[in-house]
Amino acid sequence: MLKIEKPNILIVDDNPANILSIEKTIRSNDYNIITANSGNEALACVLEYDFALILLDVQMPQMDGFETARFIKSNSDTHHIPIIFITAINKEKKHVFEGYNAGAVDYLFKPIDPHILSSKVNIFIELYKNKKEIERYAKTLIRSNKDLEQFAYIASHDLQEPLRTISVYIQLIEKKIKEQLDEDCLSFMGRTVKAVDRMRNMINGILDFARISNQAKPFAPFSIETLLHSALNNLNHLIKDKDAIITNDNYFPEIICDDTQITIVFQNLISNALKFCDKEPPRIHISAKQGKGEWIFCVKDNGIGINEAYYEKIFDIFRRLHGNSKYQGTGIGLSLCKRIVERHGGRIWVVSEFGVGSEFYFSIKNS
Ligand SMILES: Nc1ncnc2c1ncn2[C@@H]1O[C@H](COP(=O)(O)OP(=O)(O)O)[C@@H](O)[C@H]1O
Ligand SMILES: [Mg+2]
Repeated sequence: MLKIEKPNILIVDDNPANILSIEKTIRSNDYNIITANSGNEALACVLEYDFALILLDVQMPQMDGFETARFIKSNSDTHHIPIIFITAINKEKKHVFEGYNAGAVDYLFKPIDPHILSSKVNIFIELYKNKKEIERYAKTLIRSNKDLEQFAYIASHDLQEPLRTISVYIQLIEKKIKEQLDEDCLSFMGRTVKAVDRMRNMINGILDFARISNQAKPFAPFSIETLLHSALNNLNHLIKDKDAIITNDNYFPEIICDDTQITIVFQNLISNALKFCDKEPPRIHISAKQGKGEWIFCVKDNGIGINEAYYEKIFDIFRRLHGNSKYQGTGIGLSLCKRIVERHGGRIWVVSEFGVGSEFYFSIKNS
């Protein structure tokens, strides 16, 4: 485990004797104690150092404790610092409430019980250490995720070239010696070319996956209707091929999003709806409804349906419920959708009835 820098505690009091007595009570090797004699000095300190806790006197000349606390809480860099007010005078309820309103987490009256103060300080030090630990893990996780994405992008990009060469040469060999090959050999050649194609599709899928954050565009307002139309346009051939009946709601909102990525989500969900269908004609309905602070979109089909046990698993990368002979694919589409939707602060899920059809939902925050 990494060593954490010692946390800081700030004691603010205009009376040096009070500071000394608190310092004596809470002195420990686990943290540094910094002191300030006025509200102004305290503000200068919080701008310079990070604090695990502030012990703040209420009665001070010029800027009192409440005012100091309000300044600290109004600054986005310092508002997270817990404050405990310490007072000998303002014991009335209205003052206590004023303290809480100013952002205090606790209110202690003098004379202070040293055990109570020490144990409260220890709790806040523990909380601070845990918070720092979580922040550090989050940073490491973000960094290693970025490295992994970069690796996936470079590796899949570089793998495309030799694969193209393999595919071209196999086909050239086949052309040259076709007459000399028996049926078995021809079938082996055919299978090799198919496997190369499948691998190319998977590599392209991984590239698409890595592109979600590598080549992400900033969000802007877009009409969902326009995005849906371009998704349907891209699938035009498949829709005609399957004689599918596609309907949609009359109203679609405008949302703040990456238009290319949301088009990809619709395209993947609709192409799955067309693919995983054993009925004629495939019927697909696309709708939108407003949720709490979000829009929820739905692609509903009359396809083969999904067993409840797989509702979550199908969003994992490369997870497929069927072999390639019946339904072709790479198992990347839904994981791609999930990543895109999560990048937009939303969720994606499925509700389905085996043999009847599925409803794929995704939400995008109203912002
Ligand atoms: N509309 C659907 N109806 C039934 N099963 C589906 C549907 N969409 C996805 N699935 C299942 O989820 C799996 C993962 O989907 P996806 O990631 O798009 O991969 P792919 O389409 O390449 O198989 C599919 O292989 C299929 O088993
Ligand atoms: Mg798919």
